Amino acid sequence: MYQFLSLFLAASALGNPLEKRQVSGTSTVNLGNNTGTPGHLASGFIYGIPDTPNQIPDHFYTDIGFNHGRAGGAQVAAPGRGWIWGLTEYKNRFASALSNYQTTRKYGATFIFLIHDLWGADGTQNSTAPYPGDNGVWTSWDNYLTQWISDMKANGATTGLSVDIWNEPDLGGGIFWNRSLAQYLQMWGRTYYRLRYGNFPIQTAFQETSNSVHDRKDLPTAKLIGPAFAGQPDASNTWWTGFLSFVASNASVPDEWVWHMEGGGGDMEGAYGALYSMLQTYKLPNKPVNIDEYATYPEEVPAGSAWWISQLERVNAIGLRGNWLSGTQLHDFMGSLVSKASQTSATAGGYFPNGDFQVYKYYNLNMTGHRVGSSPSADLKLDTYATVGTDLVRVLTGVRITTGTWQITINDLSAVGLPTSGTLNIRTWSFPYPSGGHFGEVDAPTDLGYYGHVYSGNSVTFPVYQTDTTTAYAFEFAL
Ligand SMILES: *[C@@H]1O[C@H](CO)[C@@H](O)[C@H](O)[C@H]1NC(C)=O
Ligand SMILES: *[C@@H]1O[C@H](CO)[C@@H](O)[C@H](O)[C@H]1NC(C)=O
Ligand SMILES: *[C@@H]1O[C@H](CO)[C@@H](O)[C@H](O)[C@H]1NC(C)=O
Ligand SMILES: *[C@@H]1O[C@H](CO)[C@@H](O)[C@H](O)[C@H]1NC(C)=O
Ligand SMILES: *[C@@H]1O[C@H](CO)[C@@H](O)[C@H](O)[C@H]1NC(C)=O
Repeated sequence: MYQFLSLFLAASALGNPLEKRQVSGTSTVNLGNNTGTPGHLASGFIYGIPDTPNQIPDHFYTDIGFNHGRAGGAQVAAPGRGWIWGLTEYKNRFASALSNYQTTRKYGATFIFLIHDLWGADGTQNSTAPYPGDNGVWTSWDNYLTQWISDMKANGATTGLSVDIWNEPDLGGGIFWNRSLAQYLQMWGRTYYRLRYGNFPIQTAFQETSNSVHDRKDLPTAKLIGPAFAGQPDASNTWWTGFLSFVASNASVPDEWVWHMEGGGGDMEGAYGALYSMLQTYKLPNKPVNIDEYATYPEEVPAGSAWWISQLERVNAIGLRGNWLSGTQLHDFMGSLVSKASQTSATAGGYFPNGDFQVYKYYNLNMTGHRVGSSPSADLKLDTYATVGTDLVRVLTGVRITTGTWQITINDLSAVGLPTSGTLNIRTWSFPYPSGGHFGEVDAPTDLGYYGHVYSGNSVTFPVYQTDTTTAYAFEFAL
């Protein structure tokens, strides 16, 4: 990190600091473009919550503004392999999910229930595992839903609830769904009507009215979301076209459009644009977007986290960090935001934050006021998320795990009351990724001090020397 500082100062002292380096591109912030109140939309993660209540102290959740959890009892110790292994194994898996629901609700966050995991299709099921609707028979799935709805009600677990109807059915290799698209769509329609209206089967399309026989019954406030595909929206992807065309004709439109961004490619404006265009094609409504698994494991470092935050905020998408741990570690570590000395113990305490945690803490607690619009560098490698507070402008930036030199341009300085030319003192914070990796301790960002940038034309440009692939930076200046 100090290497960064000395390079920054030495190069800047040359007068034209960029002359000697190849600049790969520019991320631009527009201070005059108010895009609304921050909701730290990316502050969620999947699994990551210990099954023992209060094992991770409250402040770890509240510091990052934890607002979305997602679980369904996957990979709990045997006997807990889910419904397809019988009622006892269902109950043990349910207990884990219920505990995670209760922890999530303790912080007022929304819980996304993964009913495919509770069924038993968590990726560890064997090659002869049954799926809903096999051979046209739905009895086991219907009975499963009856049991689950009853258990959710009996435990008062019906508020703040979303249901992902099935996880990544499109993923190659049949990891979570090893059946056809057609069988998946039948499962979607059947489950949607069952959860929303209780009185399955409903044979004709209808309008919801306040006192019709179709009034919402079993889980009246639960959001039904999906399709949670592994692949991003794409008009040439038959899972997407098949799904959108089916829900349009079946009147089973999800409450949020959900997919995952864990392939290491793609970007949010591209993916959102493809969805938007397909929604026009199938005459479907615009709904909130939820990327309920984002970032590869290598991207879950401060730079990658800042990049994903910037991407998600730009299109107002909810985001949950993907979880790349397994076994008991899957049910711990808040999606690789915290760590502890005994990493193989499911029940040990002694938690400490890592570098990513400090990014999310800054994002939640410091980046207050209002958001302003920004755009990524043209190569999509550097991105920025910026807010205007009562005291400071704050710009969080990260690369998508690569090295090089980029720059940031901040336009319309007069929109926050600054002169159109002069010297701007910018303070830099770094968010490091130390040895120890995802499990390494970082207790605070590092203050790299102030540097005065001469500017004119109501705009300032300064370099970002990314000499490692992992460090995120925040730049601050007074109004
Ligand atoms: C999917 O099902 C086929 C048989 O239909 C089986 O050979 C294959 O192993 C299954 N894959 C998984 C991941 O379960
Ligand atoms: C495969 O899993 C199913 C439950 O999904 C179980 O009934 C069956 O016995 C298992 N088969 C083997 C060979 O373990
Ligand atoms: C929706 O799809 C399900 C599953 O095929 C079907 O049972 C139901 O009747 C369909 N509803 C409408 C309104 O088409
Ligand atoms: C974030 O805000 C807190 C509370 O005001 C403050 O103590 C802390 O120094 C700030 N952190 C940074 C990096 O500015
Ligand atoms: C403001 O920023 C948002 C988000 O980056 C962008 O979609 C919009 O086009 C921008 N508006 C203007 C006027 O630049």
